[in-house]
Amino acid sequence: MFEFDSFDSHEKVVHVCDVKSGLRAIIAIHSTARGPAAGGCRLWSYESTSLALNDALRLSRGMSYKNALADLALGGGKSVILGPVSPECRKEQLKAFGDAVNALAGRYITAEDVGVGVPDMEIISTRTPFVSGLTDAGGAGGNPSPYTARGVRLGIEAVAQRTFGRGDIANLKVAVQGLGGVGGNLVRELAARGARLVVADIDPARVERACDEYSAEPASIDDILLSDVDIVAPCALGAVITESVARQLRARAVAGGANNQLATPNVGQLLHDRGITYAPDYLINAGGIIMVAAEYFAENSAERVNADVDKIHNRTLDVLDRAKAENLPTDVIADRMARDAIANRCSSTQAVAAETAAQV
Ligand code: NAI
Repeated sequence: MFEFDSFDSHEKVVHVCDVKSGLRAIIAIHSTARGPAAGGCRLWSYESTSLALNDALRLSRGMSYKNALADLALGGGKSVILGPVSPECRKEQLKAFGDAVNALAGRYITAEDVGVGVPDMEIISTRTPFVSGLTDAGGAGGNPSPYTARGVRLGIEAVAQRTFGRGDIANLKVAVQGLGGVGGNLVRELAARGARLVVADIDPARVERACDEYSAEPASIDDILLSDVDIVAPCALGAVITESVARQLRARAVAGGANNQLATPNVGQLLHDRGITYAPDYLINAGGIIMVAAEYFAENSAERVNADVDKIHNRTLDVLDRAKAENLPTDVIADRMARDAIANRCSSTQAVAAETAAQV
């Protein structure tokens, strides 16, 4: 693990194996400098354990950066459950996963990610209090996807402002890849503001619904990212903006909800060199974790959460402006800002609450 490119001085990485339920999982804690490490739990069928570990390492570092830029009193962590998990074993595996989270005594807080939903968090919550994204949260809580989509839409509007010189997105053409929790809510947000949509998903029913409800145009899953549109919004899995895609993109901007969109570090430079605006993924997809944090710290009135999510708009403008002023790729600027925020820690009330929670 220490030799992995994705290893970045992670504080703790736990391999979980529960023979009784068959659970195999990895919990990666990247940093607790700003508070307990928070980040979702992904259930995915990886081709190898190394790929699962690599994903946990990359995603947990991304969470440290995301939480720091969103000014949350949280560090970064992420967990992966190695699939497939049969429906008969799911409940027992989730309970065993809850026990593993609980054993970390508050250093890691879990929530939803790809393949894991609110009912799963409810099961995990029977074994540990270090979980968020639950139904009975009162106020904003439960499924974080609508808040993520709201933030992504605000990021897209900021990108439109700086790339096309306009404050609205009416008639801009946006290609959305993936119509799940985030993408499905994003198309609703974009359509409500008059954007024209091009969509793709491996699930034809989701494509059909978007076409029916929002007059979206379907595209092939193989080349939606190369569509002749103004903005592409990756909202499925990561590493989709490869060097080849970056060289062939016809859109003038990339702004979506998927984590870790850039396949390799030099892709950001490639986009910059081509004059394509890239809204760093963890900057604009922080809406969900903002809600998860508010729920966890019991500060989750819907108005407050929406107001915090809305700050993503100005934060995106700030990153784009700094990148322009320094003639550097936006991901380089955002990474630097996040590292500075981690170094400076956090003195908010949430930090105090987090410290108290960790001591209990
Ligand atoms: P989801 O599992 O609900 O939706 C993913 C969608 O992508 C599904 O409809 C799936 O069929 C589709 N898909 C998979 N492969 C595809 C392909 N090759 N081409 C087109 N569509 C494809 O997941 P969710 O929650 O919407 O997350 C999407 C991305 O956003 C992930 O990268 C996740 O890590 C990230 N994210 C999600 C947050 C949330 O609040 N749910 C928060 C921040 C990031």
